[in-house]
Amino acid sequence: MQLFKRKPKNHGVDADRKLPVHIAVIMDGNGRWAARRGLPRKAGHREGANTLKRLVKECNAIGIKYLTAYAFSTENWNRPREEVDALMDLLLEFLRNAEKELAGTNIRILVIGDTGRLSDEIQKEIERVVVNTSVNTGLNLVIALNYGSRCEIVSAAARIARDARDGRIDPEKVDERLFSSYLYTREIPDPDLVIRPSGEYRLSNFLLWQSSYSEFWFSDVLWPDFTKEHLYQAIRDFQNRNRRFGGLQR
Ligand code: FPP
Repeated sequence: MQLFKRKPKNHGVDADRKLPVHIAVIMDGNGRWAARRGLPRKAGHREGANTLKRLVKECNAIGIKYLTAYAFSTENWNRPREEVDALMDLLLEFLRNAEKELAGTNIRILVIGDTGRLSDEIQKEIERVVVNTSVNTGLNLVIALNYGSRCEIVSAAARIARDARDGRIDPEKVDERLFSSYLYTREIPDPDLVIRPSGEYRLSNFLLWQSSYSEFWFSDVLWPDFTKEHLYQAIRDFQNRNRRFGGLQR
């Protein structure tokens, strides 16, 4: 199956073909990218943030509806203080400039994760950006911040147990749909395509529940070097996969 029907019009993607509705990316390889250049790790993260900005615009332009970016995991607090601070500074900068950077793109920003542990400043910026972009109807950029799937699932189970105990829900009615409604992603469709660059082949506590039937795309490229050509390749590969969702060929 061909993705590029003709010379790039609509940015090289034939929107009539089956595009993934939701792409999720694990932005891995920033540290190695910096180390190879003799730069501090934070320089890799800055370049990684630039890659994300480019990818967001590209996804919006070709008609992807959701892009989830794993920006900071519940385990990333274990990194050296200097690196955590650099990541938080980048996030703050990204959020502060978001509307200006994305002006005219109709992009909506959402955040998933336990944001309560982030600084008040970052929480305020998240609230502002989410409210200010809430009416936008283009790409939904979902930023996973202090996100961890196990934590998300345990928290959902605990709240379901409390709601059942207090009579707010009937324990007999707990099913996949109800469980999903207790997750951060309750209003977000499951990812169709999960992209992990940098030569690692694992999920690292990212969207464990939601990616049950996702297609995975791996590459050795380091995240700061990820280009729109890699994106197109991942989409083309996705279009050639045969998704059966546990059933028979469709
Ligand atoms: C993993 O690469 C990357 C991260 C832990 C952070 C990702 C964050 C950004 C790209 C920038 C901030 C995001 C926004 C939304 C502005 P790594 O450092 O573990 O790479 P390595 O495996 O090569 O060391």
